Amino acid sequence: MSILLLGGSPAAVSSTGRLLDHVAEKLAERLGDIRPGHRYTKVQVRELPAHALLQAETSDLAIKRAIAAVADADAVIIATPVYKASYTGLLKAFLDLLPQDGLAGKLVLPLATGGSQSHMLALDYALRPVLHALDARHVLAGIYATSSQLVWNEGSGLAVDQAIAWRVQAGVEGLAAALHGHKSWLEQLAQASFVAPVAPIRLAR
Ligand SMILES: Cc1cc2nc3c(=O)[nH]c(=O)nc-3n(C[C@H](O)[C@H](O)[C@H](O)COP(=O)(O)O)c2cc1C
Repeated sequence: MSILLLGGSPAAVSSTGRLLDHVAEKLAERLGDIRPGHRYTKVQVRELPAHALLQAETSDLAIKRAIAAVADADAVIIATPVYKASYTGLLKAFLDLLPQDGLAGKLVLPLATGGSQSHMLALDYALRPVLHALDARHVLAGIYATSSQLVWNEGSGLAVDQAIAWRVQAGVEGLAAALHGHKSWLEQLAQASFVAPVAPIRLAR
């Protein structure tokens, strides 16, 4: 199985990029437990040639390779910072180069970082419709983190707060389950709480 990490931040030092790497590491750990041998590819849109990107030169080699990486992926983890209450124009410039059914048959896990909680729905109202328009098979619930929930340390790397850790775990479980068609622990948990034993009812005479 092939997993593409698609980064849509223009920043070289990027909270979004760090969250993307963090989720990919957690997924690799989880999938390694299930079945090793997955292939990971990363496309940072900011590293594509700007002229070719903006002029939609799909014959450019780097652009061609990036589009091919999307076509080749079984799952795409797509990450963007929130810019002006939406995803970045940089990411849109790349998504616009994909064929209309460019995400057909693919699982997608969207991630976003923002300056505050104000735009935490941006993934749902802005990015999700575009992913569906590209015919994604299944778009999992997104993970949104504010900059203050992601603490970077040069020595130890990224520390995420508890709420984000939980969402990352749920996202990774959901993606692993969808990739391998097994029941996620979230589903098992939901089922377990629904089938809790019920005391027999005694009917009064
Ligand atoms: C041009 C620009 C626009 C932004 N607009 C928003 C916004 O509308 N809502 C928000 O919550 N944060 C906004 N932010 C803050 C970024 O989303 C936030 O700092 C994000 O974590 C940056 O990710 P990065 O480190 O990958 O660049 C904006 C930042 C920039 C540079």
